[in-house]
Amino acid sequence: MDSESLLNTNEINIVRGKYQIEDVCRKIVNNYRNMDELFGVMDLSEVVRRFLRLKEIMPRVEQFYAMKCNPNENICKVLAAVGCNFECASTHEINRLLNLNIDQDRIIFANPSKPVSQVEYVAKHQVMKMVFDSEMELHKIHEIFPNAELVLRFRCDAKKADFMLGEKYGCNPVLDAPRLLKLAKELQLNVIGVSFHVGCGCKEPEVYGRAIKFARDIFNSALEIGFSMNFLDIGGGFPGHSSVDVKPITDIVNSALSTYFPEDNVRIISEFGQYYVTAACTLTSCILGKRKIQDEITTEKIMYFINDSVMRNFIISLCDVYVPTPRPLFLNSASTKQYKSTIWGCTMESKDKIHDNILLPELNCADYIIFENMGAYSQSCESIFCGYSKTLVYTIVDEFTYEMIKNHEIFKTNSNLVEFKLNNLFN
Ligand SMILES: Cc1ncc(COP(=O)(O)O)c(C=O)c1O
Repeated sequence: MDSESLLNTNEINIVRGKYQIEDVCRKIVNNYRNMDELFGVMDLSEVVRRFLRLKEIMPRVEQFYAMKCNPNENICKVLAAVGCNFECASTHEINRLLNLNIDQDRIIFANPSKPVSQVEYVAKHQVMKMVFDSEMELHKIHEIFPNAELVLRFRCDAKKADFMLGEKYGCNPVLDAPRLLKLAKELQLNVIGVSFHVGCGCKEPEVYGRAIKFARDIFNSALEIGFSMNFLDIGGGFPGHSSVDVKPITDIVNSALSTYFPEDNVRIISEFGQYYVTAACTLTSCILGKRKIQDEITTEKIMYFINDSVMRNFIISLCDVYVPTPRPLFLNSASTKQYKSTIWGCTMESKDKIHDNILLPELNCADYIIFENMGAYSQSCESIFCGYSKTLVYTIVDEFTYEMIKNHEIFKTNSNLVEFKLNNLFN
């Protein structure tokens, strides 16, 4: 029996009863023939729980999922089934959603600098909402898709975030926005509203208040120019780590919305990515090799080589942001003594270092370690450098989520929910 006949990454596996993701990882390892193959388990119930929580604590904001964060089709299907819409960066992503019969009205094309061929594609498929932040983009849209519903992206950066986007995208809300709106008016284009992105992994909640105030100011200037706008997109940026509660941020968003947008004729949307998926995915890696070294003060240090890489799920290791610390999947593989450890990736690249100087118990070849909180900008950034193939990600749901989604259209026509197989596997 090969690994594919045990589990299929296309299917959504229903796990009955109480479980932790790592129980599922253990079960897969125990049923797996190809022992040094990297894999992840993505719990779609966690994704749904996060969608429902935001609906409860930030009720005025309609949710869109930023697909670039993790484009796994089962995430999209489950989110579509519970009522989440989608933000796309390219027509490749849009095409995948249209193929799932997700309505084009549920998609916003939020890349401010789009290839001509992609504007032609969305014009053909009538995906109406798209973002711009420059004159050139307005001229392009005027030529190809003049009746598109346009959203002006402006810049408002958090004082601290994991990844700042403002240097690249978003016009100046005071100096550039009125000029762009005037040009849009001259070209007889249809600007419906504004968007911003404060930066990924935002660490300054107050920035949402500042940005929403700027949005109000732009709405007011737009009215003078002749646009009656009714669309506000508050972008992404909410952290997704399991230890972070977003309630303090939603309190600020809710309060700014009632101050600056008290009227209910403005449609307000968000386009979070990592908030939904970071905590949902646990990766299981295997120790491929190990080398002991002595440093200058004669402390023993251990170098490990694992089957993941900065070219696979750990691009974050190159970006000076928090990288989850691994722990052994099976307790019996761990001694109690801790050693200073370095974790190297599996490619031949010298910068392929995932962790340096972390404390770990001594591990051996073929021991398994897990990294939690690995669902965001991990599989979506993977390359096949050095001949590695993409990480196998198995998706699971609990019974509650299964009951919520099973009768939705997206699963009725072509269901990939596999209860029977899972009973065999996981119970
Ligand atoms: C336009 C846009 N929207 C949403 C997102 C998702 O951001 P996050 O994962 O921080 O929520 C991004 C991320 O780059 C983005 O560029």
